[in-house]
Amino acid sequence: MTNFSKDAAHPEIVVITSGKGGVGKSMISLNLSILLAQMKKKILLIDADLHLGNLNFLAGFRPRYTISDAIQNHVPLQEVLTKGPEGIDILPASSADMALLENENTILRKLTDAFSRFESNYDMVVVDTAAGIARNVLAFVLGGDKIIVVVTPDPASIADAYGMMKVIRQANENTPIMMVANMVASHEEGESLYNKMKLMVRRFLDCNLFFGGTLESDEQIKGSTRRQKIIALDQPRSTSANSLRIITRNLLKLPVSDADGKLNLFERMQYGRDLAVGGME
Ligand SMILES: Nc1ncnc2c1ncn2[C@@H]1O[C@H](COP(=O)(O)OP(=O)(O)O)[C@@H](O)[C@H]1O
Ligand SMILES: [Mg+2]
Repeated sequence: MTNFSKDAAHPEIVVITSGKGGVGKSMISLNLSILLAQMKKKILLIDADLHLGNLNFLAGFRPRYTISDAIQNHVPLQEVLTKGPEGIDILPASSADMALLENENTILRKLTDAFSRFESNYDMVVVDTAAGIARNVLAFVLGGDKIIVVVTPDPASIADAYGMMKVIRQANENTPIMMVANMVASHEEGESLYNKMKLMVRRFLDCNLFFGGTLESDEQIKGSTRRQKIIALDQPRSTSANSLRIITRNLLKLPVSDADGKLNLFERMQYGRDLAVGGME
């Protein structure tokens, strides 16, 4: 299955997921990308919510093209790349593209071909995924070197995060998973949420869950989002920006399994997609 080319240098791929929507994945993806860039990493941020992407709204820019133009209208992926703050590159998605609902295999193949031409420009690729555990979401998730699962105290978020981790573990035993507790009332609540998840994951999935840190429910985050600002830049001295820096450092410390570290992102997505459907084709 892994008969892909193994010669080029590939960036580390960090995938941010949750199962449930509205838990802060996009906000965290954007802030981590900015903070990693401030640590001198060359970052590509991909909006993998191909149908309902909103990174451009969160970051306050209007993209000229989106990934969907690369797939459907033959725009080179390099031209879709948009410069974000701190020198990060962003691949924006369109915010309402029904046409992309089909042809998932074609999408992945086209992205793989295009991406392999410029991926070596980056140290890390941050992938912000859509909600749910649909096959195309899993293809991205299972392609990661490191997976961040964002969980809030909402029971639906806990259940969906657990469901997502179960699917990840069924397909892949080695990829480290780091949990971030978001929208908690206090650091203590975040830690106890983590301990609860860790116990569940240990007991029922027999695997480890790393702790990424906590982010409190914060009016400043809401305010920044409303003004289309990124809190790490907008209010760098705020409690939330500090928490995001801790999460970024924990991400960098996370051990990485080198089992399939030589594949590029979209090759891994295809591999992930195959795993997600149990070796289809
Ligand atoms: N810790 C937090 N405190 C307050 N608001 C938050 C927090 N985290 C996220 N939000 C807000 O919740 C909303 C959903 O966040 P978003 O990142 O779009 O979620 P997702 O990508 O998981 O759907 C946004 O308005 C965001 O600003
Ligand atoms: Mg999102």
